[in-house]
Parts: sequence; C-alpha cells; structure tokens
Amino acid sequence: MNFQYSEEHLAVRDAARDFAQTELLDGVIERDTEAKFPYEQIKKMGELGFMGMMVDPKYNGGGMDTVSYVLAMEEISKIDASASVSMSVNNSLVCWGLEKYGTEAQKEKYLKKLATGEVIGAFCLSEPEAGSDATSQKTTAELDGNYYLLNGTKNWITNGNTASIYLVIAQTDPAKGHKGISAFIVEREWEGFVVGKKEDKLGIRGSDTHSLMFTDVKVPVENRIGEEGFGFRFAMETLNGGRIGIAAQALGIASGAYELSLAYSKERKAFGKPISQHQAIQFKLADMATQIEAARLLVLKSAWLKDQGKDYADASAMAKLYASEVAMNVTVEAVQVHGGYGYVKEYHVERLMRDAKITQIYEGTSEIQKIVISRSILR
Ligand code: CAA
Repeated sequence: MNFQYSEEHLAVRDAARDFAQTELLDGVIERDTEAKFPYEQIKKMGELGFMGMMVDPKYNGGGMDTVSYVLAMEEISKIDASASVSMSVNNSLVCWGLEKYGTEAQKEKYLKKLATGEVIGAFCLSEPEAGSDATSQKTTAELDGNYYLLNGTKNWITNGNTASIYLVIAQTDPAKGHKGISAFIVEREWEGFVVGKKEDKLGIRGSDTHSLMFTDVKVPVENRIGEEGFGFRFAMETLNGGRIGIAAQALGIASGAYELSLAYSKERKAFGKPISQHQAIQFKLADMATQIEAARLLVLKSAWLKDQGKDYADASAMAKLYASEVAMNVTVEAVQVHGGYGYVKEYHVERLMRDAKITQIYEGTSEIQKIVISRSILR
C-alpha cells in the first residue's frame, strides 16, 4: 500500500491548480451571475491537454492515468465547477466511450478532435421521462438503408449548445427493452437537429445545459457505436467512469470551500481573537477536513482501480455518493463559518454551495448510486 503521489501526479495537480488560479478565478462570479459559458478558458484547457487527459497519444490525448485526471478535476472544481463539468463530460463520457468502443474510423474522425478540445462533445442519455429510469428511452433510431432516422428529445444535456459532437442513446428495437437500445455519434450540423432551450439553473450556472430535438436526423450506419442493442450497456459502462469524474468534482467543490473557510477563519476576528481560535469554528474545520480526506480516499481508490484494470463500478458509485454528500455538508458549513459574508457572492462559498447540489443529482442521483451499491452487495 502506497499513499504517495508520483512526481507526474504532482506536476499535473500543480499545473491544474496554477491554471485554475490564473485563468479561471478571474471572472468566475460574473460567469455564474450571467450564466456565461467559459469559452476562452475551455479553449485553453484543451490546449493544455485537460480535455482529453486519458486518451492515447496516438489519438492526440495526454495518455495519463485516471489518478492524474481526478487530481486535475479537483483543482479545476475548487475554482470553477462549471468549467470542470464540461471537462468531465468531454473526458469521461465522450472521449472514454469513443476510445473504448468506437471503430478505428470513428476514432480518427471524431476522437482526435475531441481529445485536443478543438471540438467539445456531449453525452445524450436523459430524456423528459427517462432520467434515473434510463431504460425508458423514447428517442428512436429506425434503420432506413444506410442510415438510421433519429427522432426524439433529450434533456439536461451538458455542453448542449457548445458541443459539435453528440453521443446519442436511442431505441432501435423497443420490443427488446434495454437490449434494444443503441448508441450513435451525431454531428451538430446535421439537418433535423435543433438545440432547444437553455436551462436557468441553481448552480453550475456557467455550464451550458440544453434540451435537444431530433427530427428525422439521418445518422449513417457507420456512426453507430458497437452493435445494435449495445447502447444501454455502453451508457452504463461510460457512466461508471463518469462517476469518478463527478466524485472528483464534488471533492474539489468541498476542498475549495474548506480552503476558503480556513483562510477566512484565521483573518476574521470576533470577541477579541481570530474566529479560528474559537472552538465552535475549530470543530467545523476538523469535521470538514476529515470528511474531505475520507472522500479523497474513495475518489482515488476508484481511479486507481480503473487504472489497474479492475472492476470499479461499485467503487465509483461509492465515491460519487459520499463525495457529493461531503460537498453539500462542507459548503453549507463554509457559508456558516463566513457568517453574513458567506451569503454574498464576493466570498465564493455561496456559489460553491449552489454548485455542490448538482453533484448529488447528475450522472445518477444519490439514490441511483445506492441502487448500484446495494445490488452489488446483495448479488
Ligand atoms: N455497469 C454496467 N452495466 C450495468 C450497470 C452498471 N453500473 N447497471 C446496469 N447495468 C446493466 C445490467 O447488468 C443489465 O444488463 P443485462 O441485462 O445484460 O444483464 C442492464 O444494464 C440493465 O440493468 P438493470 O436491469 O439493473 O436496469 P434497471 O432499469 O433496473 O436499473 C439503473 C439500471 C442502475 C437504475 C440505471 O438505469 C441507471 O444507472 N440510471 C441512472 C442514469 C444516469 O446516471 N443518468 C445520468 C445522465 S448522464 C449525465 O448526467 C451527464 C451530464 O450531463 C453531467
């Protein structure tokens, strides 16, 4: 057992920390208030290799391990969780899914551009009536010669309006239930594809969440990922890894709020001494630090299991379940430590508290993680 990071891990962590401080911190409050996507910052993240970190260098990726990825996710999320969700979807859901299950031609055509961040991807599973119950897909893809005709609506799609390449899950044979679901690569410019309304959200307001509509969109057969009927398994396996990224995001939101609280508690004086000298605050800081450390261990373990080629489905569900709870607890306490200042935008912690909530909802609610974990325990 070795709890030490390698030199490479520390270099990636420091590079991400540096980028977050110098490029993301400035303007993060305005982007949140105005719900503005961080275009310039995401472009730079692509140039620095943060958008395709784990992709093989032969497809223009960084060739890094999952531990490096979670370290970078934590640092970016400390400052801007809207930027980090875009990074997470592109890395974990889109690039990983394509690299693992795409054909060589699909990787050449799509993955190479996604891995550099030259274009951004989106993962389209959720529907108005299929969120947690992901098998109830209503979007259909009907084979018509060399094309599938894609029809339906997707909801809550991260990178919805900024993406150029969309991985879309759809029913190809409704009679077969989840075994009749398939996955497709869809290009933004294709006729019949319309980006719908932008969601006005509680948190991660700088991220770009939209509904999408498909009306007789012609998807070439060669853009199907895997065999017909493989789409549900594709989505589930992709989400197993995605949950590691979101767990790291939750960890970053929590540790960002904790670091701000620690610094504030040493500066702010009340009753004649810094509030860090009052036991009421010391107990809060101790609880925050302990919960964050426990979450970090779960996140790193799930990343390590993935890097070792071992099963990580349960570990990633546990990491996401726990880290998102910690993100919520710690950010609420961070606002409390800051008192009245915590309730205004300038001190960042109210934003982190709003951002934390989504980590208990997307890529499977906390209840879905408990289903994944309990099924495994009881199997
Ligand atoms: N890993 C691999 N395979 C899995 C799996 C997992 N975690 N969970 C289920 N499967 C497989 C099962 O083995 C089964 O396969 P077989 O029939 O071949 O045996 C098949 O999928 C169906 O499984 P279930 O019978 O268990 O299906 P279910 O309907 O009872 O429940 C579920 C499945 C776990 C609840 C699933 O629907 C689920 O995970 N729902 C949540 C979906 C989700 O996370 N959505 C997030 C949207 S994406 C997003 O948020 C991205 C973003 O923008 C940030």
